[in-house]
Amino acid sequence: MRTVVHTRQGDPAQVLMLKEDPGPPPRPGTGQVLVRLLVRPVHPGDLAGVEGLPGLPEQRPPEVRTPGVEGMGVVESVGPDVRALRPGQRVAVFPAPGTWADFVVVAADRAVLVPEGVGDETAALMLVNPLTLLMLHRALENALGEHEGPVLQTAAGSSIGRLVSAAAVRHGLPLVNLVRGASGARQMRSLYPTLPVIATSDDDWREQVRHHTGGRPLQVVLDCVGGALTQDLVRLLADGGTLITYGRLGSGTTALEELPLVQRGLTVQGVTVWHWTHRTPDERAQDVAFALDLAQNTPDLLEVAARYDLADVRAAVEHARRPGKSGTVLLSSERSTGTREEAVR
Ligand SMILES: NC(=O)c1ccc[n+]([C@@H]2O[C@H](COP(=O)([O-])OP(=O)(O)OC[C@H]3O[C@@H](n4cnc5c(N)ncnc54)[C@H](OP(=O)(O)O)[C@@H]3O)[C@@H](O)[C@H]2O)c1
Repeated sequence: MRTVVHTRQGDPAQVLMLKEDPGPPPRPGTGQVLVRLLVRPVHPGDLAGVEGLPGLPEQRPPEVRTPGVEGMGVVESVGPDVRALRPGQRVAVFPAPGTWADFVVVAADRAVLVPEGVGDETAALMLVNPLTLLMLHRALENALGEHEGPVLQTAAGSSIGRLVSAAAVRHGLPLVNLVRGASGARQMRSLYPTLPVIATSDDDWREQVRHHTGGRPLQVVLDCVGGALTQDLVRLLADGGTLITYGRLGSGTTALEELPLVQRGLTVQGVTVWHWTHRTPDERAQDVAFALDLAQNTPDLLEVAARYDLADVRAAVEHARRPGKSGTVLLSSERSTGTREEAVR
């Protein structure tokens, strides 16, 4: 059994190691299943979990930890009291800490049966990002209240950003897309021609935002960049507006005290897909049905950037951080030889 591990936080390209254990895989306990994983994504959040938050002391004592929160594979065995699943079935798992390994043990209710028409790669991507989209959508609706918009999102070319754009086009949401460079802007314009795209590499990007919103201030900003950009984003918000923060791709920091939250009645709201587990079983079932529908009918929205063998985790991590990457990098469990970088689409 192969497992990617790290014993300290730091640059993933430095601290991640592949451990090979000749022993048998773990046994599932009551209500659990053992999944032989075939594919799992490299999400920015996985890398943040390895690095820790910049500027803060190490968040956890040294221990052997395996990254990864989602993936797809085949049920290898089931523990006592598991009736809904049986060995041999294809499943996608989330939340399932430790998916960067050949096997993972998860509670049976965290494994979703993969329909026949859905490919392995799509299945490996069909939970975290679509469920995050739903969490963002709910936060956005709450924050908008009676307002229709406008709304701005940062890192619009990200996998999540594309899901948000597709939903905005479908629902007629007045969304402005912000990216960091000209090539990302070109790409987004060709994918979503009806949505304005602005690159922060342009000196006048703030004026461009005002121009595209017809001078109306933003009601909501969906932001996963943060850092030094936060001040600018807050300046573009309407009084009473909301900054929804759900990631930290940018550098630098902005102190909360520097923001005119009180004077302008602004709200800063964090959103995390980890809170999805707080939803009721019925609500979760509806959300999973949405994710399955997306995987079956619009798999292109779950784009794959490249696929690497689990043993090439460092190369995979380097690719996942590459500027201009389009889609999500996958780690696969198929053993092959040589340099295993395969552009998928
Ligand atoms: N809160 C949650 O529960 C949750 C769940 C899922 C994802 N997220 C967050 O959502 C964000 C997007 O995730 P993803 O998987 O969709 O990402 P992704 O597909 O890997 O794409 C990353 C995107 O971020 C852009 N980017 C990278 N560094 C940047 C910077 N310093 N400034 C501006 N843009 C930058 C890249 O732009 P270029 O094209 O210019 O390189 C690329 O478009 C991440 O912050 C992630 O942590 C949060």
